[in-house]
Amino acid sequence: MFLKLSNIVKEYQHKDGKIFALNNVSLSVNEGDFVVVTGASGSGKTTLLLIIGGLLYASSGAMHFKEAPIKLDNGNELDAFRNAQIGYIMQNFALIPYLTATENVQLAMHNKKLSKQEQTIKAQELLQWVGMEHRMNHLPKELSAGQQQRVAIARALANNPSIILADEPTGNLDPELSKEILDLLKKINTEQKTTIIMVTHSDMARTYGNHNVRLEKGKII
Ligand SMILES: Nc1ncnc2c1ncn2[C@@H]1O[C@H](COP(=O)(O)OP(=O)(O)OP(=O)(O)O)[C@@H](O)[C@H]1O
Ligand SMILES: [Mg+2]
Repeated sequence: MFLKLSNIVKEYQHKDGKIFALNNVSLSVNEGDFVVVTGASGSGKTTLLLIIGGLLYASSGAMHFKEAPIKLDNGNELDAFRNAQIGYIMQNFALIPYLTATENVQLAMHNKKLSKQEQTIKAQELLQWVGMEHRMNHLPKELSAGQQQRVAIARALANNPSIILADEPTGNLDPELSKEILDLLKKINTEQKTTIIMVTHSDMARTYGNHNVRLEKGKII
């Protein structure tokens, strides 16, 4: 199995009581899957992506990547897994406002073997690939919402991830732009064989998945 989650629990201690953001979630993902995760607000979708991406500690449970266990309580191991395998796309793009499109993509690169110049060339190639060759030296505020999300997708590809995690990537876009971004994710999925795990509320976005997962109160139903 490419990615396997077993009995993941994420529990928050809150002064009003315990919250089980994830309550015994198990999920198997094949390489090249386009997984669509849906569920009501508060059902645990973002929590699930954060745990897969190594950005949040699970309370218990196990994760395996290509049969190898990833220690879910070890920050160094989670960082290494994230840097090597994961690209992250967020609803609000989260670009750095004072850096150009090229610089935003370049900053995300971890490969120490590339010189600065090689990094710049790679960033430009990625921006071309997502259809942003005409806006490479623009700042985020000089770009439309759809263009900003394309830059964020190029950034997510900066380290050749095997998995892209996308948390409502079209949540801030109108239907036409949403379709463009979803088509771009589909292209990444089919042409680069990148596995995609996408959270969405949109019915249109749901049709892009080959594996649909629905969360309800922290459980997969
Ligand atoms: N830091 C925290 N402390 C306590 N409870 C939290 C914390 N973060 C999240 N939660 C709770 O965990 C549950 C799951 O939150 P999560 O953000 O995963 O939901 P979601 O499905 O992504 O919702 P949305 O669709 O609104 O983004 C919610 O009930 C939320 O209140
Ligand atoms: Mg969320």
